[in-house]
Amino acid sequence: MIVSPRLLRVACLAPFLALPVLHAQQSAATAPDAPHEWKDVQILKDLSEDELGLTMRYFAASTGRTCGSCHATDKATGHLDFPAKTDAKKTSREMMQIVQAVNGGGDEFGKLKINCGTCHQGQGCPAGFQTATMLTSEQMIQANTQTAMAALRAANPPAPGGPGGGGPRNGPPPGPPAAEVLKKLTDALGPAAASLQARELSGIVTTRTAQVVPFTIRQKGSMYLETEQLMPGPQTIGFDGTAGWSKSGERVNDLKGFQLESALRAADMSLAKEIQSKYAKLDSPKRGNFTLAPGAAPFDAVILRGTSGKTSEQFIFDESTGLLMRRVTRTETALGGSLVEQIDYSQYRAESGVLTPHKIVRSNWNNYDTFTVSKVTINGTVDDAVFHKP
Ligand code: HEC
Ligand code: HEC
Repeated sequence: MIVSPRLLRVACLAPFLALPVLHAQQSAATAPDAPHEWKDVQILKDLSEDELGLTMRYFAASTGRTCGSCHATDKATGHLDFPAKTDAKKTSREMMQIVQAVNGGGDEFGKLKINCGTCHQGQGCPAGFQTATMLTSEQMIQANTQTAMAALRAANPPAPGGPGGGGPRNGPPPGPPAAEVLKKLTDALGPAAASLQARELSGIVTTRTAQVVPFTIRQKGSMYLETEQLMPGPQTIGFDGTAGWSKSGERVNDLKGFQLESALRAADMSLAKEIQSKYAKLDSPKRGNFTLAPGAAPFDAVILRGTSGKTSEQFIFDESTGLLMRRVTRTETALGGSLVEQIDYSQYRAESGVLTPHKIVRSNWNNYDTFTVSKVTINGTVDDAVFHKP
């Protein structure tokens, strides 16, 4: 498996499209979940390409390292040599053993569960030895959750008589049924939203490294196409309803497994339908006071939670408008740590009878992209051919 170092450098700066595609050499006959034959994997045995790729992204995210700072570069080819021995791999294995020992359920650690992020918090050298930095999205979510929980507790003082007093237990106030929340969303978006066939959004996207470039996002049914005019070359992801692909400059790759799922979370033209079909059961929703960022105005929120396999998602709605404000996705990796992705929606305005967010912020371990939408086309003509792999 080879990945060019240039792409890796870009990977920490540009959207995840540029991350090495671990599936590139997977034959069509291999099931995506089949264990892969790794050359120097001693602890994370029996992982498929998708699972190992996910776990490596988690390692990079939680320790603030690039792939190339744990893996050696092959001098002859200039590509990363993943099986080669390095000190960082050796240290990481010792760390993995710590994580396994603690999480293994031994009596000495009780129910405590840890992972790389518990200590590293996105830093190569765990905090205590570091100057302050910007909060990671995971830390922001934690801070928000704590604020929301504190507000909930304040709004619900313990029942008179104290614990064991026999009164009803005071949890967060239950929200309305999930079906009602999703219907309110559909109604809020406008009557035309229910029969949405196609949508095109365009405008500019600002990346984490302050590149400001044009983008277009097209969706037709389940088909999806997104292009960002990044330097040094445009980056596109596509999904033709069956197969996913990415194109970076002239390089075309198949997009599968986690990478495809992650990319398609942006395909949110018919979100209420998508949530319903994806999650057979949505957790009993909760109500609470919520803020989207430290210092931002709090609002009354209804929160839905769905779990499917390794992925769990929270959908945070503004209770008064019914609109979706935030979507937080967590994907569990091999040692139990989770990768977190977040999408925020704001500045909803009606376009051809459909309320459409004009500001979308997508953040994850690698990117922080702010999409400012300047043009929306509803039910325009889009040729299916554009969604096919070039
Ligand atoms: C914090 C260090 C660290 C980072 C960052 C990291 N890796 Fe790894 N990687 C490891 C370790 C350790 C192993 C071996 C795991 C084991 O022995 O169970 C490994 C194994 C691998 C393997 C298996 C190679 C083989 O056949 O033996 C691949 C492929 C890989 N990493 C790719 C990546 C990619 C791509 C990235 C960036 C997204 C990345 N790694 C980031 C530490 C790291
Ligand atoms: C219990 C806390 C803890 C956990 C959990 C932990 N680490 Fe560490 N890690 C440390 C500390 C502390 C250091 C610094 C140690 C030193 O300098 O000797 C470190 C250092 C490292 C280094 C070397 C950094 C350098 O620049 O030399 C790597 C690589 C690393 N950790 C990877 C991982 C990975 C991957 C995981 C998850 C599998 C992980 N760590 C889990 C505490 C932790």
